Amino acid sequence: MALFKSSTQEVPTTGAIPKHIAIVMDGNGRWAKSRLLPRVAGHKKGVDALRRTVQACAEVGVEYLTVFAFSSENWRRPAEEVSLLMKLFIRVLRKDLESMHSEGIRLRIVGDLSAFEPELRAAIDYAQELTRNNTRFNLNVAANYGGRWDILQATRQMLIQNPELAQHPEQITEANLQPHLCLSDCPEPDLFVRTGGEQRVSNFLIWQLAYTEFYFTDRYWPDFGKPLLMEAIASYNQRERRFGRTSEQLGLSAQADRASAN
Ligand code: IPE
Ligand code: IPE
Ligand code: MG
Repeated sequence: MALFKSSTQEVPTTGAIPKHIAIVMDGNGRWAKSRLLPRVAGHKKGVDALRRTVQACAEVGVEYLTVFAFSSENWRRPAEEVSLLMKLFIRVLRKDLESMHSEGIRLRIVGDLSAFEPELRAAIDYAQELTRNNTRFNLNVAANYGGRWDILQATRQMLIQNPELAQHPEQITEANLQPHLCLSDCPEPDLFVRTGGEQRVSNFLIWQLAYTEFYFTDRYWPDFGKPLLMEAIASYNQRERRFGRTSEQLGLSAQADRASAN
């Protein structure tokens, strides 16, 4: 399994198109409410927005998309909404699986899957197994995911696999922990997008977002698609990603790159 370099250990290579985009798909409920529809109607439209976004990302050359579908805190919602979301999840998994597979999409579900019903877990296992060798595009769906859970489960795994580290905690490095985190075989997200107007992380990929560029839009998730994706990418292209260095250093390294290319 290829491990990607950590942005805090080494400066990553970056380009005009983000390799990995992470999205908090927020605002489904308000989208529905503003149309006097039940909240679940917003979640259903949100699935269409996700389909459009996957297509658009693959078209423009994004390689990895990680979307927040259900947080570890979303169990606090009314039981009826949670149950409708689970039903929708199973239905979409089944309905879209063949087309995703034929389009070369590798699907992964990240999060604490032990909380889900056996039927949903079986559908997830099947989908992951079927698409595991696909390489055209990577779709990661965070479900019952929480950033703090991720760090804790990685810590537990690290200590189970390397019990000697518990005796020598001073020897623990990022390199020991990183392989156990969700998405350890994906580059860290270049761009984080949150729709729906809130400007918060809501316990999404808190470790992996260390050097990610943030983009917020007031538009609700069901309205998302290629035009809004391109707005987010255009904003990303205005950023100077310094990874701790100065602006002057960036200018010098760009000059050196041009000189070595000539
Ligand atoms: C995001 O939309 C989808 C999930 C959290 C499952 P919301 O359901 O949070 O929509 P708002 O924020 O209430 O509008
Ligand atoms: C974050 O949205 C989780 C998902 C989009 C799945 P929420 O709507 O649950 O976030 P908060 O509670 O407003 O922070
Ligand atoms: Mg919300």
